[in-house]
Amino acid sequence: MWPAVAVAASAQIIGSFPLHLFLIPRPWAEYCAVHACHGENASLNLMARAELERAGRNVRRAKGRLYFDMADGDEGESGERRVQALSEVRCVRSIRRVAACVEASGPPQVGMAHPAAQLAQIIDAAADWDGVVADLKALGIQIHSCCVVSRQFRQLARLISAEPAHHLHRELGLCLQRRLGWSPQGRGRSADLTLHLHIEGPRLLLEVPILQQQKAKLGGFFPHQGMHHVEAWAIARSLDLEPGETVLDPMCGKGTILAEAAVWWPNATFVGCDVDPGQLEHCRRNFDWLKQTAVLHQSNATAHGGIPRSNASVDKVVVAPPWNRQFGIRGSLVSFYQGMLLEIFRVVRPGGRVVLFASRKVLPKLKAALSLCLEQVHGAWRITAERGFALTRATTGVILVLHESPHAGAMPASASILSWEGEAPQGGRELYEHWRRLRAQSFPRLEAPLREAPLRGGAKEGRSPALRFLRPVLACLVACIALGLRFRA
Ligand SMILES: C[S@@+](CC[C@H](N)C(=O)[O-])C[C@H]1O[C@@H](n2cnc3c(N)ncnc32)[C@H](O)[C@@H]1O
Repeated sequence: MWPAVAVAASAQIIGSFPLHLFLIPRPWAEYCAVHACHGENASLNLMARAELERAGRNVRRAKGRLYFDMADGDEGESGERRVQALSEVRCVRSIRRVAACVEASGPPQVGMAHPAAQLAQIIDAAADWDGVVADLKALGIQIHSCCVVSRQFRQLARLISAEPAHHLHRELGLCLQRRLGWSPQGRGRSADLTLHLHIEGPRLLLEVPILQQQKAKLGGFFPHQGMHHVEAWAIARSLDLEPGETVLDPMCGKGTILAEAAVWWPNATFVGCDVDPGQLEHCRRNFDWLKQTAVLHQSNATAHGGIPRSNASVDKVVVAPPWNRQFGIRGSLVSFYQGMLLEIFRVVRPGGRVVLFASRKVLPKLKAALSLCLEQVHGAWRITAERGFALTRATTGVILVLHESPHAGAMPASASILSWEGEAPQGGRELYEHWRRLRAQSFPRLEAPLREAPLRGGAKEGRSPALRFLRPVLACLVACIALGLRFRA
């Protein structure tokens, strides 16, 4: 009944509303979940949709977003039910952001552009701000400042007359300040909350984030990226890291594998070595960004004693050595790998594990080096898994897992599927999506989209020295002017 009344009322409003923008009165609140990755049919997006549908929501998909509604209960009960429903949505872990949608919609009118201030007032007046504030309150989110952003500048330009899109952002910020007391900030980094202005066909939406996913844990968006995060995860996963273990990457480069391991198994100790100080600096910055620590050494991991660790001092080793392509090497690949493996077997403890990553092309050389080494080292090291996958269209990557055990019989036979993969497809896109799903199973719960308190404090402390100096000077100046005026009067 309600929707029918709403449509009739809206139809009347469309006819009379001069700006061709209107709010559909709805008896339910609508939210949107922003996809974690590209591709409508990517496994994570399908997972998110299935999770929302299981939670009994009316789910609709549009480009890059899933819209879902939450029906309000009877008067008085609605707040509680909405909070409960939102806590369920917290479990939709494979999405980037959940936002309450504030909508002003209408048929797109070519040539019907409005001043930014007017458009902002329409969104401000039309929205169910009480509902948004209730959601934020129910989730314990307190806002003092906000910032409005949008990526759709061209679409916005069609709605605003002769003004750049950021005027609309600013005007919306001012409306929110008048209505809710949130102080507007020009940049998202200094604001408590970043609101997204989004155009979806004829709908103009202001998305107020209420839950979000931590970037690092989803997309491997490290400041310095090397290997793709899903592949780095699969390599790191093969280590089967336990809390308290020490893992070494003797040729860590930007540290993609170590950093990916640090995201999912943070209670281990991470040690990285590389000959190139530039690569080590990138690795350090990646760890800083994750707020994790790694012990880093500049060293040549192919020379005897080159890895600055004592014998049998690390539990696990992971390495993706150069293939003499992007990272060239001097001399033969076999002797380079042999030097590296001898060092690895020196520092890894008995019963430990080594995970190597190579291309199918260089694999024979790596295996040749391995058999030469195994004649020289103590302990019964054996390849227990050899897993190939399409790294690019032209290159097959291979993960080799090596175990050492004094009791050779206790070791699993060599497998072409990794122990943690379950029923995995042989390769191709399906294997990649399979790994991505397995990785997503450990996603943390969504969290409040606020900036962390230390950062906010830090940002204030981090103001430029010039600004810190200028503030008291300006204050003195204002005081002098005020005094001067009084004196003249
Ligand atoms: C393929 S990259 C490693 C990628 C890295 N595992 C990651 O996760 O991003 C190979 C690295 O080996 C380093 N390297 C080359 N020769 C080395 C040596 N003798 N000792 C230590 N590192 C070396 C290179 O500087 C390069 O950073």
